[in-house]
Amino acid sequence: MAAISATNITKVYKQGLFKKGIKAVDNLSIEVSEGEVFGFLGPNGAGKTTFIKVLLNIIYPTNGNARLLGIDIYNPKARRNVGYLPESPYFNDRMNAFQLLEFYGAFYKMKRNHLEKRRNEVLEITGLTEAAKRPLRSYSKGMLQRIGFCQAILSEPEIVFLDEPSTGLDPMGRRRIKDVIRDLKKRGTTVFLNSHILSDVQDTCDRIGIVKDGKLIKVANIQELTVDQHVLRINIDNPTDEIISAMDAIVISCRKVDDNTIELAIDTPQNTPGIIAKLVELGGRIYDVRYHESSLEDTFISIIENEGEQ
Ligand SMILES: Nc1ncnc2c1ncn2[C@@H]1O[C@H](COP(=O)(O)OP(=O)(O)OP(=O)(O)O)[C@@H](O)[C@H]1O
Ligand SMILES: [Mg+2]
Repeated sequence: MAAISATNITKVYKQGLFKKGIKAVDNLSIEVSEGEVFGFLGPNGAGKTTFIKVLLNIIYPTNGNARLLGIDIYNPKARRNVGYLPESPYFNDRMNAFQLLEFYGAFYKMKRNHLEKRRNEVLEITGLTEAAKRPLRSYSKGMLQRIGFCQAILSEPEIVFLDEPSTGLDPMGRRRIKDVIRDLKKRGTTVFLNSHILSDVQDTCDRIGIVKDGKLIKVANIQELTVDQHVLRINIDNPTDEIISAMDAIVISCRKVDDNTIELAIDTPQNTPGIIAKLVELGGRIYDVRYHESSLEDTFISIIENEGEQ
C-alpha cells in the first residue's frame, strides 16, 4: 500500500467574482511508498505548500482525490498517524515548549508516560532541552522552527510532512534535522519534504519530484538525476597520447581533462569493466574511476529552465 497516493489533484484559488483564479496545483498525481523519504522541489510559487495543504485537508482541492495510508483524505482518520511541520509555524507564544508539546500530546491522544518520554526525546534531538521552560515568545526564529519540528514528530506518526524544515536554521540545526530525517527513515517513517536546500534533499531523500507551475515535471531517484553513467572520469598516472587515441577508437570519445584525469563517453555502463581492463593493458595506472556526477542544483536548474523553453 502506498503511504501517499494522489490522483489528478488540481487546486484553483478563486480571486473575487470575475477575476480568473490562480491554478496553484495542476492535475498532479503522485505515489509515495511507505518508508520512503520523498523530496518535493520547485521554484517559489510552484504549488508545493498548496499540495501539502490539500493532502492534509486544510484546503479543498478543486478536483482530484487522495489517500493517506489507504484512507481517503476527507476522512479524519487519514490524519490520525500524520505529523506536519507547516511552512511558518505559529504557536501560542505564552506557552513554553513543555506546555506546547503536552498540548499536542493530548491532541494526538498520547498516553502520559509515552508523552513524557517522547517530549524529552524530541527536545533533546532538536537541541531545545535547555530552553524548554522559557515561553515561546522569547524564542529566536530558528528555535521556533525547531519546536515546530518537535511537534511534527512527537507522536511518532507514520507519515511526516515537512514544509521547508530547515528555514532559518544555522548549520548545526540543519545537520540535526538531516540526522532526524535519516533516523525517521530507519524507523520506517514516510517523509514528504518540501525543500529549497538542495544539498539537504540530496543527502536525505530516496526520490524527488520536481514541480513547476503546479505541474509535476519530473520524478526520479537522486542517483538517476545526478549521476551520468555514460561519462566515466578516470584518475590515471600517465595518460599518454597513445593511450588517449587507442581508447578514443573504442569508446564514443576519450579526452584528457588534466595531467592525471581522462574522461570517456561510453555507450553503456556495462562496458565499464572492459574499458578499465583495456586501459590497464595499455599500461595505464589507475587510481580512481567514477561516473560523472553533477550537483542536484545544476540538474534542478537545467530541468526547470528546459521546461520553460518547451
Ligand atoms: N490563499 C491563497 N490565495 C490565493 N492564491 C494563493 C494562496 N496561497 C497560494 N496562492 C498562490 O498559489 C501558488 C502556489 O503557492 P504555494 O504557496 O503553494 O507555492 P510554493 O511552491 O509552496 O512556494 P514557496 O517555495 O514560495 O513556498 C502561488 O501562485 C501563490 O501565489
Ligand atoms: Mg511553500
